[in-house]
Amino acid sequence: MGPLPVKGNEIRRNRSQERSTPLDSHPSAVTLPGLASTAKTSHRTAPPCAFVIFGASGDLTARKLVPALYNLDGQGLLPDGLAVVGVAITEMDDESFRQNMHHATKTSAEVENFQEETWSAFEKRLHYITGGFDQPKTYDDLKARLLQIDNDFQTCGNTLYYLATTPSFFGVIVGMLGELAMAVPRQQGSWTRVIIEKPFGHDLQSAAKLNDEVHSVFLEEQVFRIDHYLGKETVQNILAFRFANSIFEPIWSREHIDHVQITAAETLGVEHRGNYYETAGALRDMFQNHLFQLMALVAMEPPVHIDGPFVRDRKADVLRSIVPLSGDGVGLNTVRAQYEAGEISGEKVDAYTVEPDVHPYSQTETFAAMELSIDNWRWGGVPFYLRSGKRLADKRTEIAITFKSVPQQFFNLGGDETINPNVLVMRIQPNEGILLTLGAKIPGPRMVVRQMQMDFSYRTGFGESRATAYETLLLDAIEGDSTLFNRYDSVELSWKILAPVLEAWSVNDPSTPLAKYPAGSWGPTAANVLIARDGRAWRNE
Ligand code: BG6
Repeated sequence: MGPLPVKGNEIRRNRSQERSTPLDSHPSAVTLPGLASTAKTSHRTAPPCAFVIFGASGDLTARKLVPALYNLDGQGLLPDGLAVVGVAITEMDDESFRQNMHHATKTSAEVENFQEETWSAFEKRLHYITGGFDQPKTYDDLKARLLQIDNDFQTCGNTLYYLATTPSFFGVIVGMLGELAMAVPRQQGSWTRVIIEKPFGHDLQSAAKLNDEVHSVFLEEQVFRIDHYLGKETVQNILAFRFANSIFEPIWSREHIDHVQITAAETLGVEHRGNYYETAGALRDMFQNHLFQLMALVAMEPPVHIDGPFVRDRKADVLRSIVPLSGDGVGLNTVRAQYEAGEISGEKVDAYTVEPDVHPYSQTETFAAMELSIDNWRWGGVPFYLRSGKRLADKRTEIAITFKSVPQQFFNLGGDETINPNVLVMRIQPNEGILLTLGAKIPGPRMVVRQMQMDFSYRTGFGESRATAYETLLLDAIEGDSTLFNRYDSVELSWKILAPVLEAWSVNDPSTPLAKYPAGSWGPTAANVLIARDGRAWRNE
């Protein structure tokens, strides 16, 4: 099996649209765009713009978007000329939108220390238009409102559209913006951009179709496909860890690394999202985007610069080099499972099939695990084990890199015990940090070696970080920095990797049965078997 094929037009689109950045305009100093976006680390001044949110009466706007904008404003990172226009079918005026957002922001988990005074200044930025996303009148109203706002706030004709609707409207809204000439810059020197939420497509065909629809209206450089994992400080730190230190890169390869494990475990179930989750499952919900992006950041080659097109090129290379799981490969290298009733932190929790809006005989996976291989010079022969699930024993996202064992066991540990290989763990969340396991002599007269841990915690090292993923990403998009957003080719390549798995799972291929696991466990036995057959084990401690 070879790597995934590269389409000729992928290269052309990439070159013509992304390579337009002149090479000599890149700063020579190493500045990680996302890392530099917090108030603590830089003094960025965002340009003025109208920030239009389609789907403004929805959950995402209330829970993430408006709280993130409020936080940015509180840190003085929004320019005076930034105004928000919410658009949705729910009847509201500016005043009721402001009231709803006031409540949402005040109670948001993303906001520490809500200040009424900051809110009073911030809420003046908020506006609302009622209308259907497929109705031309909505866009006429929006146009008129944008003109007025341009006048009142001096937004300089810049417009950022945020598609926070259900995915079925993404194509519709983009189409309407194109038809009504709202995707082109409104005046000389101004810009128009669009942020598109996940899920970007449901499979390879729908993602490619959506990309085509988007590209028929916007240039790739105007498009920001969001993945909130890429805004997390610790995810950006993978780049800093690898490329701001010289000691790791020489050992970052098949010569020294035995295998890599990527885990995204949650204790929560599907909550109130049964309707969506029934059509998604763990593979679409977590692998296609978050897990594959983590894998790409860990495995990518050093980019020419730490900057949008260059980082995105190298990440796409990784996805392109994944060995496709076809035929028997799916049954042999993947596991799917669903949670049954169980107990988490001493509380009894229900099975997935009795959650609201879930079919009692649902075959949707709430857990998935897979072994992937990257067919290139750096990673040939190094397995990447990925797993993610809901209602697991712990909430934890981490990347664990296990190095090769020492060639000779000098130290007698007693019995069959051998020195464990070194493991480097990048803890993405919670308790963000980096851990390295090492063999060390136990103090005392005898030469006894045991494993110890060097543990760096962000909280103690840098203090509490305040920038949430959405703050980082919204600011980056306003500033036009696409480094932490997904390019069209990465999205399609991710779907391409999953295509044979989705196909086998959708027809209930007998080689890939849906296993069960009790809520509160570390997943099904089949996942342990998947890794144990290679003589390895999941890191569950
Ligand atoms: C979202 C998924 O993208 O990521 C959710 O749709 C999941 O199902 C969430 O719970 C996990 O994000 P985080 O930041 O809590 O790890």
